[in-house]
Amino acid sequence: MKALTICGTRGLFGSVRIPGAKNSVLPMLAASVLCHGTVTLTNVPCLSDVASSVRILQSIGCRITQHSGCISVTSPETPGNAVSEELMRTMRSSLFYLAPMLARTGRARIGTPGGCRLGARPIDMHLSGLARMGARAEENADGSLTLSAPDGLSGADITLRFPSVGTTETLLMAASTARGESVLRGVATEPEVTDLARFLQSAGADITGIGTRTLRVRGSDCLMGTRYAVCPDRITAATVLCAVAGCGGEVLLTNIRSAHMAEVLRALRGAGCMISASGEDSAALASDGTLRAAGERETGVYPAFPTDAAPLLAAALLRAEGESRVTDTIFENRFACAEGFAALGARVSVRGRTLEVRGVPRLAGAALRAPDLRGGAALVIAALQAEGESRIAEAQHISRGYEDIASLFASLGADIAWVNQ
Ligand code: EPZ
Repeated sequence: MKALTICGTRGLFGSVRIPGAKNSVLPMLAASVLCHGTVTLTNVPCLSDVASSVRILQSIGCRITQHSGCISVTSPETPGNAVSEELMRTMRSSLFYLAPMLARTGRARIGTPGGCRLGARPIDMHLSGLARMGARAEENADGSLTLSAPDGLSGADITLRFPSVGTTETLLMAASTARGESVLRGVATEPEVTDLARFLQSAGADITGIGTRTLRVRGSDCLMGTRYAVCPDRITAATVLCAVAGCGGEVLLTNIRSAHMAEVLRALRGAGCMISASGEDSAALASDGTLRAAGERETGVYPAFPTDAAPLLAAALLRAEGESRVTDTIFENRFACAEGFAALGARVSVRGRTLEVRGVPRLAGAALRAPDLRGGAALVIAALQAEGESRIAEAQHISRGYEDIASLFASLGADIAWVNQ
């Protein structure tokens, strides 16, 4: 197990090239099982969730080659159709293998997916959508689920009760090779969903309405190998910006899509940061480290302020003059990191889905524990603002979604390092 030690209160200065998006590459790796031939993904971030995906792909017979930011996946004629309990528990994204295995083999056996404990995170919408396409589900004695579609999947007209990102991606993968047409209504429009749809199109899928709340998919007999570049990670970008905003300093981000970050940029401008987006693929932020409180800020489905950035913004506001209230409308338990904020001397309280922050003049280093991926990153941002040394245990949560968060912030002048826990 790894921990991070951080000595704060330094300004952060420099430039960062933003890597490919975790939440794009993970569904794409699963979708590669739909493709006959070799899929090559480029701009792939080096994350432990990507390593877990490679283990799942190899466990169902796929051949993998990897080199410097590229991954190639070649699926066998008949891939395996079960993911082990151990691999299912590595991340929420293990759930993405359900539809491709079902579509390719007519069967799929999965256990309960892992992932950040942000709330109940049921999979009912995935299952009910696949049922509408002809899949039959049965629970096994060990609690795992077996879905079967011996006659293959058929297109359907499905309306989501909530624009779930994962459900949209599951049904998009299933519809891409289902018999006939599917209409998916009320879908998510996050950039990572659009990225997956464009990846599937590049493999031969017939999808229209990309970027809107209604996707029309005409099932293809088979999808072919392709080469595709993963879009930049807007949450990694938000993490760097929130850290510089809270600590003070100046940073230039390159390889971003500023259009994907409009609400994050707006929130940081509102807190008093100077932000200039020179073109679509770069942005600069300058902050004197004394931010204005945010007042009321609420997350929502894209293009609203993203749920994953809620703890990151809160961390930047811990020393902001005045009161901020950040409400996450997506997950019930987004602010498990509040305990760590309080240990650093922040004045915070969680009421339901809302984190209330009353800014304090200074924070002091403490012993912390990462509760989940974005909560762990938020504790890094908070500890970078604290006087003295902090230590973040359970930091493996953070490595699921950031290439090397210590090197990332050390390159901007932070005193941060990995240590054995
Ligand atoms: C994806 O999770 C992301 N993960 C999350 O990022 C992100 O926070 C989330 O979308 C929202 O943007 C990946 O893409 C790998 P949802 P997902 O389905 O698909 C409920 C990170 O830190 N729901 O949109 O699980 C669910 O409980 C991670 O990178 C059902 O009720 O999110 C939640 O309250 C964290 N039934 C809401 O919908 C279902 O069948 C949104 O979930 C599915 C979801």
